[in-house]
Amino acid sequence: MRTTVVLGLVSTALGDTYMHNPRGSNNRLNEKSANRKNGNRLFDSQNNNRGGYNVGEPSDTTFDPNSVADSSATPGSSFPGGLDDDQYGMMYLESSLLPIEWTAQHGCGGNEKDDPHKVNCNMVIQYMCNNDAAINKMDRMYLNLKDGRNTDTPDEEDTYENLAETNAANDANGYGRHESEAWYHDCERRGRNKGLFTADQNLKGESMKYTRQNPNGNRRGLECPEERDYYPHWYPSPWVDVAVVTDDVDRCAYYKLESQNVADKFYCKAKTPEAETSRELAWKSWGKEDCEKNGQEWASMTHGLSAVNTVDCVAGQWTRVNQLGNAKGAIIPARYPWVVPTLAELPANTHKPANQMYAKCVLRLRYNISTDDYDPWTTNSSQNEDKRNGIVSPVENNPTVDVGANLQGLRLAINTAQFGRTFQTRSHTFYIKSKSSLPVGLRNTKVHNLNVRGKRGNIVQTFPSVEYDFIPKNLTIQNGELLHIQWTGSNTHYNGNPAGDGQAGDAGEGTSGTDRHNMMQCKAAGDNYPLPVDTSTNMFQKCYNPDGAEIAAADCQVYMATSGYYKTAKDATDQNPDALNELLNNAPASLVGGVIVQLESGVHYYMNTRNNNFSNRQQKGRLTVE
Ligand SMILES: *[C@@H]1O[C@H](CO)[C@@H](O)[C@H](O)[C@H]1NC(C)=O
Ligand SMILES: *[C@@H]1O[C@H](CO)[C@@H](O)[C@H](O)[C@H]1NC(C)=O
Ligand SMILES: *[C@@H]1O[C@H](CO)[C@@H](O)[C@H](O)[C@H]1NC(C)=O
Ligand SMILES: *[C@@H]1O[C@H](CO)[C@@H](O)[C@H](O)[C@H]1NC(C)=O
Repeated sequence: MRTTVVLGLVSTALGDTYMHNPRGSNNRLNEKSANRKNGNRLFDSQNNNRGGYNVGEPSDTTFDPNSVADSSATPGSSFPGGLDDDQYGMMYLESSLLPIEWTAQHGCGGNEKDDPHKVNCNMVIQYMCNNDAAINKMDRMYLNLKDGRNTDTPDEEDTYENLAETNAANDANGYGRHESEAWYHDCERRGRNKGLFTADQNLKGESMKYTRQNPNGNRRGLECPEERDYYPHWYPSPWVDVAVVTDDVDRCAYYKLESQNVADKFYCKAKTPEAETSRELAWKSWGKEDCEKNGQEWASMTHGLSAVNTVDCVAGQWTRVNQLGNAKGAIIPARYPWVVPTLAELPANTHKPANQMYAKCVLRLRYNISTDDYDPWTTNSSQNEDKRNGIVSPVENNPTVDVGANLQGLRLAINTAQFGRTFQTRSHTFYIKSKSSLPVGLRNTKVHNLNVRGKRGNIVQTFPSVEYDFIPKNLTIQNGELLHIQWTGSNTHYNGNPAGDGQAGDAGEGTSGTDRHNMMQCKAAGDNYPLPVDTSTNMFQKCYNPDGAEIAAADCQVYMATSGYYKTAKDATDQNPDALNELLNNAPASLVGGVIVQLESGVHYYMNTRNNNFSNRQQKGRLTVE
């Protein structure tokens, strides 16, 4: 086993992306500080250290970092019980509508000449789920996703024979994992694509861990740098494509065709023990010809989804540069409306515990930008800087340029490792849940997710993350459709020092560090007082737990008002009325499993009693049933 210590790279981020729903981790786990502890934990984000949200927790207690239990356990009946775990993974119903919301700092979308900051860009949205060793068609990409118990980077393994041992040691050490040890092992064995444009960067090795953006071959989590920087990638990967949000829809046909959801991706499969161990041999086996010449097998893999489940491709909304705000013409940040796949639509090797009821997954968002100073789609290795042979890269590090008028020249700030760059964030693990336990009549009904985004603190303290709010905040649904209301929070959002580029502090109500939410109906939009739960006004017509059992309307209201502290109205009366803290301090940080409701027709307003502090902060929402 080899432990690589990667020196903390200070990110000089210029174009970060942050995901606000589902909560993007930005490599955070349970940090009490505003800065994340380890930007190399699971993946390479290149984002500012302050971004991201901590992992959710199902109760008012901080998870025990010394317990190696992880949410790989089968989630149990989620209402009114809890998950058999002390971290909380959101649970989205299959085929439900989930708005993926992000902000991207260097802008994206629009690609016209009248756009003052024209950039070539695309957002790539993907997910992956645990797969089953028994039906593992993914060769060595077996996955058991873990959020982890601490913020350390998992160990890699360079010896084939010790992969299983390192995997067990990573588990025992409580290290998080999105990709497997075998995936990174292969990354170090596979030759990098020598046809790629690397400008004047000096790549220090032969394998896929060396790229123009990562010339020194640094490791972050078990992510493979070449796969990270290029999409669609040529080798098979465990990631399943959701959507490409692009400035150039002319490329959509290409993305759809090349998506591994439907396309075969080829790789050189080792047939001899020597090939498993010899990196030399592996690097030399790049294409079919070399692979077979070296006695190995040219094999292929695909996720094997039906053509309708190939990658979606849509035009990006225009967003402003140097600003993490709303998209053009919209009063909300950029979004992609994800229809969560059904369990049947997931790749065939997906592990579905509890009788095919769940899949455990993680969502990945990459933000990829480049300029027009060279054509990123046609410039290749033939233009890599090679002064001895008279080749000058079209872009060079910090060039001094001739500006005429006998001036000496002015220097441009160009880093060719970041000129054409990919940023990334990922969610914490979540579950996709079957709808088969819902009443038969509801299984084909459209489900909308209603969640909470943000973390504790004021606007300055949370930046570049956001303050609390409901999402979607102003939702219109059709009569009869279902709403899955669910939120998650952490008990460690103290936002303390070190605070990096921003301010420390967690302005808010209730115990420091704790996220708490509830949902109570109000009479009108302008009201900052909730309606008592036992009035005749009740927007909930029907209410179900995520397993499909009906809950009485009054119980449902109490459950949501107390974030699950009281399961029923009777619970609330039976217990000491002072048991629940008035600021929800002792209520669960997450609405475990959430509730599935049908609403009365009309327009409804609701608020969060704890976090709504007019005129400092607001947490209110509106629901229209047509
Ligand atoms: C690079 O691009 C040129 C022209 O587009 C092409 O002729 C050449 O084959 C390419 N080289 C590689 C290594 O892909
Ligand atoms: C990013 O864009 C470049 C072209 O500028 C492309 O070669 C690369 O594959 C893209 N990577 C991702 C992750 O989208
Ligand atoms: C909220 O939704 C309603 C109904 O769809 C719409 O008429 C209204 O303009 C929306 N308000 C805002 C501020 O988006
Ligand atoms: C409301 O917010 C302000 C600003 O953060 C804070 O000073 C005040 O104490 C808050 N009020 C309550 C009751 O928490």
